[in-house]
Amino acid sequence: METTMKTKTLENLFHETLKDIYYAERKILRALPKMARGAKSPDLKAAFEKHEQETQTQVERLQQVFELIGKPARGKTCPAIDGIIEEGEEALEAFAGSPALDASLVAAAQAVEHYEIARYGTLRRWAQVLGMKDAAKLLDATLQEEGATDEALTKLADGSVNQAALEAA
Ligand SMILES: [Fe+2]
Repeated sequence: METTMKTKTLENLFHETLKDIYYAERKILRALPKMARGAKSPDLKAAFEKHEQETQTQVERLQQVFELIGKPARGKTCPAIDGIIEEGEEALEAFAGSPALDASLVAAAQAVEHYEIARYGTLRRWAQVLGMKDAAKLLDATLQEEGATDEALTKLADGSVNQAALEAA
């Protein structure tokens, strides 16, 4: 009895968090084209465009996870990602035309990635604990992509973006 209750609690938590990241991914999907348009560096622009494609696939993976748990794919407002994206948009306006614009875009994008890495890390672990191997695999695939995107952004920052912001100062 006790075990059943515990399992149910974690299942509920998993479902709620899945709705949170589903909302977040769709919000990110709408933000990425704006970020790509805003970026000055062609490499950064390309990175945002690449991640937009990946995010489309990530949304589909989440839909598959909803299907696996027999629930409709539905999001739940996530104030955390709303705030992170709002800050990014503010920076985009405040630094428009500034040599530090791309640096601010990288910072905003990394805040998004880190939020996603936190969520997917937790969801993957919960899926494993709940014995949902297929869901864990799907969540892991996205987690790897988010990690690679974060690393690519760091490389862009180190390779050119931060230097460009510094030199033009
Ligand atoms: Fe994502």
